[in-house]
Amino acid sequence: MAQTPTHLTPETLGEFRSAALAEAQAAATPAEVEALRARLLGRKGQVRDIFALLGQAAPEQRPLLGQLLNALRQELEAALVAKPAAAPAAPPRPVFDFSLPGRLPPRGRLHPINETIEAVKDIFKRLGFEVAVGPEVELDYYNFEALNIPRDHPSRDSFDTFFLHDDVLLRSQTSTVQVRVMESRKPPIRVIAPGKVYRPDTVDATHGFLFHQLEGLVVDEGVTMADLKYVLLEFARGLYGKDIRMRFRPSFFPFTEPSVEVDISCFVCGGKGCSVCKKAGWIEILGAGMVDPNVFRYVGYDAERYTGFAFGMGVERVTMRRLNLNDMRLFLENDLRFLRQF
Ligand code: DAH
Repeated sequence: MAQTPTHLTPETLGEFRSAALAEAQAAATPAEVEALRARLLGRKGQVRDIFALLGQAAPEQRPLLGQLLNALRQELEAALVAKPAAAPAAPPRPVFDFSLPGRLPPRGRLHPINETIEAVKDIFKRLGFEVAVGPEVELDYYNFEALNIPRDHPSRDSFDTFFLHDDVLLRSQTSTVQVRVMESRKPPIRVIAPGKVYRPDTVDATHGFLFHQLEGLVVDEGVTMADLKYVLLEFARGLYGKDIRMRFRPSFFPFTEPSVEVDISCFVCGGKGCSVCKKAGWIEILGAGMVDPNVFRYVGYDAERYTGFAFGMGVERVTMRRLNLNDMRLFLENDLRFLRQF
């Protein structure tokens, strides 16, 4: 606090002036400014006390000291008025209202393709199957060689497959997982393997460079085609309804012998013929067959002791029929207007 001088000279007045102005500068709130004004300039204030000292000063100095004192009083008045009338109000403290309901984060949902995979998994789990996975970047050996697909087979052509390297490619089928599972353990085996596969197909309503398959494999002693038929019928009835009928047509796959294409009676018209089954009454749902003994040889299984069956289906196709869609490009476009409908 500025000390009132005991005797008045230009020097003692100068000291008081500096101290008082510094105080005025430091006063921050309206209340502090007001208190300071009262102490310095009030009726019983310090400036008044200093004026009273004028009478004791040398007479020849009084005019100068009087001028200095008047100037100081004006200076202090200005300094104390120039302070803002009120400091800006402190921003209101945020109040947390514990009674308000919480804000729900937007909830995602399963993609239609994953929804199909989950539904199919559920059915096969009830039949005692486990879920297996394998890499999407795969060795030629698992995609072709060990599946009994010889070196000169056309599906090894680079126009049929994405090669990253001489022996490394993006898998073109989930059948790769059959080999990986058999390599890693002994029968009995009951697995399904859903996943992405890649082919350099020209994209259109029914083809994509990326799509999903779901593979199945059962290996044990005494497994027959009757078991294959039973499992697939259980699966089809679980997915499409209990009145579904099924038929096998002879086919060819390098890793199964015999091989079949599997059709189900149309789940829309029951077999009479409609737009969904394209008037055929039947809908092809997957490829299957009995595991070729050559495949067992690659994984070191005794082909005399074990038999098995395998099957593979396209998940996009199943999903398109389930949701009555006619263009599989919709699955990959990430258009929320499409995805939110299901
Ligand atoms: N991997 C075959 C394909 O991509 C589908 C397939 C057919 C898988 C028959 C199988 C099977 O396991 O037994 O066309």
